[in-house]
Amino acid sequence: MEGRPATYPRQLETPGTAGASFEAVADLADLPPGTLKRISRGDRDVLLAHTPAGIIATDDRCPHMSAPLSIGDLDGCVVACPLHEGRFDLCTGEPVQMPTTGGLDPDGTYHPTWSPAGRDAKVDPPGKKAEARRLTRVQRLRYYPLRIVDGRIEIALPPA
Ligand code: FES
Repeated sequence: MEGRPATYPRQLETPGTAGASFEAVADLADLPPGTLKRISRGDRDVLLAHTPAGIIATDDRCPHMSAPLSIGDLDGCVVACPLHEGRFDLCTGEPVQMPTTGGLDPDGTYHPTWSPAGRDAKVDPPGKKAEARRLTRVQRLRYYPLRIVDGRIEIALPPA
């Protein structure tokens, strides 16, 4: 379904986009298969991703600590964050690899800080930074309705 909008979990649609008007944000030709692109409207940064399942629009903010996913790596539907190596499935909105810092997954389950195979888990020195890492919850991605009209990618954004 390359070159077409991807399906995405409707329950993860960005609030305020239902019924919002569509706006052209990019030429389809500027987003070849396997690429990522950031577009910005005001203070909102949106990630366009051309996956094998189709084109997806979601926030250009890692669901962990908001790093720009647009400078990450796309492999199929999975984007790798450049900051803590978290990997997220753009087609499902689910994390497929927790960030190296560990913390809470979207369901609230705690995952420890990453450590190399065969080594004891790294123990953070106690303090606010360790607590912040432990309590940071990876969110699920949120999506923007998307359509393609006359070779232009259009997305629906919530009213400003
Ligand atoms: S900000 Fe993306 S994995 Fe941490």
